[in-house]
Amino acid sequence: MRVTVNRKAHFNAAHRLYNNEWTDARNAEIFGKCANPNFHGHNYELIVSVTGEIHPETGFVMDMKILKNLIRNEIEDQFDHKNLNEEVLEFKTLNPTAENISVVIWNKLRLKIDSKLDLSITLYETPRNFVTYCGV
Ligand code: NI
Repeated sequence: MRVTVNRKAHFNAAHRLYNNEWTDARNAEIFGKCANPNFHGHNYELIVSVTGEIHPETGFVMDMKILKNLIRNEIEDQFDHKNLNEEVLEFKTLNPTAENISVVIWNKLRLKIDSKLDLSITLYETPRNFVTYCGV
């Protein structure tokens, strides 16, 4: 029996979307208000989903206390109240779109979660816009 356990988390962060190989006009055309040089914030909602067999001794797929602490240490403490472009190493050279943020989160957590378990990330940038990434 493979079961998925999910943990919700949250962080506030600022970003600016732009491609520094483009003109300001091109950036404004593609990224709109998100290209504003003064940055802007989002309330990101994160759902981390871990799928695997139920362990016969614990009845758990994964200990949720461990998952909670992992998300806090690896993601919330690193991203919350940060300017993603300027304060998070990965986004020095990577546009901090919801898509790219979800991949960065997946890569950070994948290193810390048993490889027998599947990992999927859902990231809400607004209540209506969200992305999913499962590593493929
Ligand atoms: Ni934005």
